[in-house]
Amino acid sequence: MANVDKNLFPPETFRETDPQPQQAAPPAPHAVGPLYAALRRRFEAAGLPDAATTASQLLARAAEVPPLELPLHYRDTLPPGVLRRLLSAADRVAAGEPPQYVIGEVNFMGLRIKTDPRALVPRPETELLVETVLCDDIISRRPDARIADVGTGSGCIALALAAQLPKATIIATDIDTAALDLARENAVALGLSARIEFMAADLLDGLPAGSLDAVVSNPPYVPSADYLRLPGRIRFHEPRRALEAGKDGLDIIRRLIPRAAQALSPGGVLFLEIGSDQSTHLKALLQNHGFGAILVRRDYQGVERIVKAVRCS
Ligand SMILES: C[S@@+](CC[C@H](N)C(=O)[O-])C[C@H]1O[C@@H](n2cnc3c(N)ncnc32)[C@H](O)[C@@H]1O
Repeated sequence: MANVDKNLFPPETFRETDPQPQQAAPPAPHAVGPLYAALRRRFEAAGLPDAATTASQLLARAAEVPPLELPLHYRDTLPPGVLRRLLSAADRVAAGEPPQYVIGEVNFMGLRIKTDPRALVPRPETELLVETVLCDDIISRRPDARIADVGTGSGCIALALAAQLPKATIIATDIDTAALDLARENAVALGLSARIEFMAADLLDGLPAGSLDAVVSNPPYVPSADYLRLPGRIRFHEPRRALEAGKDGLDIIRRLIPRAAQALSPGGVLFLEIGSDQSTHLKALLQNHGFGAILVRRDYQGVERIVKAVRCS
């Protein structure tokens, strides 16, 4: 235990809480089971909302096993170098870095997406946006659709669409060239770079009028006052430009709707991820710019999260 920080692993951490077979000796303090308990407690004390998941993800990565198989390795000990790296990763998480940046990747729609401070961490709500596109009738009827992902960030949406729609053409734009670099790296790592055209652009600049069948976007939509109240884990680490969008959070969406109306062909579809309380205002904006058949979908927390609208002919 020479390498183990005594603050991270106080003596009581190692007390056995699970019933153990009578003759079995307790696992070593730096075995997987006690390490999991210690990490979980440390992350709970640091106020992480998903301390247990983060502890198991970090540990599973260190032990090179799937998180669900960790209990099978309860007594396995980690080699000293691996343990040192795990503890230093735990320090970063406890100090407030997003666990996804520390781990370096997330699973998004079954794809391993590299994550770092160049782009927003892909969120589960955004999987719902992609699912909505994939299940849409108009998209199913046009397998060779031309689809733009506006504000691609890590590339998660564009990559998931490219993986699921093998005949579609995907165009991914972002105003932030560092984020675009990360998206390109992800495309190469996933063998999808030939399927996606990456463009450094403000929204849909450079795309001809009527050239798209669908526009998909998870734009910045956090009102400025709400942004200032976000946890430090988000505010001090993830790009501000990916989140904040003016007083009512609609600065980017307000500009995107008329540009999407122009870039879409008649009957083309706009899919947006939005913030809570934005749908009423958005419906009016969409109608004013020639969109109809507007549908709003709630996320699994019951919050209105996805808007779909069709460009009228
Ligand atoms: C909420 S993040 C979404 C990232 C990624 N699509 C996702 O869902 O995880 C918004 C993205 O929009 C980009 N962005 C902000 N303003 C933009 C603009 N005017 N034109 C294009 N992209 C913009 C940001 O750089 C950021 O990558």
